Amino acid sequence: MKKLAAEKAVEYIEDDMIVGLGTGSTVEYALKKLGEMVKEGLKIQGIPTSLRTKKSATNYGIPLTDLKEHTEIDVTIDGADEVDSNLYLIKGGGGALTREKIIAYHSKKVIIIIDETKVTKRLGVDFALPVEVTKYGWNATMKSLEDLGCTPELRTITGEPYITDNQNYIIDCDFGKIDEPEVLEKDINLIPGVVENGLFIDLVSEVIVGSKQGIMTLEKQVTSIGEL
Ligand code: 5RP
Repeated sequence: MKKLAAEKAVEYIEDDMIVGLGTGSTVEYALKKLGEMVKEGLKIQGIPTSLRTKKSATNYGIPLTDLKEHTEIDVTIDGADEVDSNLYLIKGGGGALTREKIIAYHSKKVIIIIDETKVTKRLGVDFALPVEVTKYGWNATMKSLEDLGCTPELRTITGEPYITDNQNYIIDCDFGKIDEPEVLEKDINLIPGVVENGLFIDLVSEVIVGSKQGIMTLEKQVTSIGEL
């Protein structure tokens, strides 16, 4: 299902584009396919959202550039941990949320590729929100996150704190159902020590879902005239 979505997304990529390269197992399929397309003559430059993606893209032969050279990106292809009907996301399961959000923000088009298990009615119910924080003062930052109404947990790997590509920590914040993601995104980022959080609000152009039935494209739902 992930492969289906990934291979559909790369159809948007054309010659001379600057392409944001997301992070994760779904994106990995897109990287592989893009690598094949480059071998067949496609001329693109990719900007990776993580060291992991940089390594994979290099292995697949995708030419790379960076935000210093190109402050505007044509299309970004990335994965997500949860997607709701507004096309708001929770990201950061792979720990790359800060670079992913910077790249998405500077992209003209952001295509999210997921399998059907990632679609949810309410963000936060099944996936704790990742928040990247500085190492300095992380205990105090965690307490402030708790005060916002979550159960926070420092992410660890083999018993040691998980370190992001930016040399920070991640605190996974279990809020349960997130009622106002737009508000929460801003409130979290107001806490000193927070680098970025995994709520992606109004950054997404299209979501391609690989399902057992094939491919679906999610578009933003308009529920009332008042929202227009
Ligand atoms: C990394 C992410 C990933 O896009 C997200 O975790 C989805 O990963 P996968 O495609 O492996 O399910 O946000 O920071």
